[in-house]
Amino acid sequence: SIFNALVILGAYLIGSVSFAVVVSKVMRLPDPHSYGSGNPGATNVLRTGNKLAAILTLLGDAAKGYVAVVIARVLIGVEIDSWGLPTVAAAAFIGHLFPVFHGFKGGKGVATALGILLAIDWVLGLTTLSTWLIVAVFLRYSSLAALVSAVFAPIYFIFLFGVQPMAIAIAVMSALLIWRHKANIQKLLRGEEGRIGSKK
Ligand code: G3P
Repeated sequence: SIFNALVILGAYLIGSVSFAVVVSKVMRLPDPHSYGSGNPGATNVLRTGNKLAAILTLLGDAAKGYVAVVIARVLIGVEIDSWGLPTVAAAAFIGHLFPVFHGFKGGKGVATALGILLAIDWVLGLTTLSTWLIVAVFLRYSSLAALVSAVFAPIYFIFLFGVQPMAIAIAVMSALLIWRHKANIQKLLRGEEGRIGSKK
């Protein structure tokens, strides 16, 4: 319906707000496209040395994914076998990757995916976050933690809820997230990826 299409468009627009760009502007930091990986995301903002800016970027990008799904759940309902909510989740995620407000040059989707997963189900979100934290704490690579989490997120969902439209949406988001990390994957394989908090 037109109404569902508007909710999906709304989710895309919410997802399109890059908190790396917004927080950097407000806090008078350089544009995240201009240093480090060039990625507008919390990991790259941390390379400025400003931990608060990185945390605000992480919280903002996660919150937009969370809010998009929660609003959609109220507006279009929660039928477990429907494509409405999975499409909304994917639309918010795609907004972050291809933001209309930032020349379609967006981020890699890690924080936004976390917010989306938490909104779909707390256990799913926290399990995936734990996976990220375990890899991040032990190996100190943000990108590798995200890649491992992206592989596991659809598996966790299917364990919890079975194969449903949302499982497909999460698998598609994971595939896009992994594709966006191709430069990180090359660096990891060459041993050139920077550890969390290092300047490169
Ligand atoms: O949040 C994205 C992260 O997984 C990698 O970011 O800046 O190291 O490419 P970056």
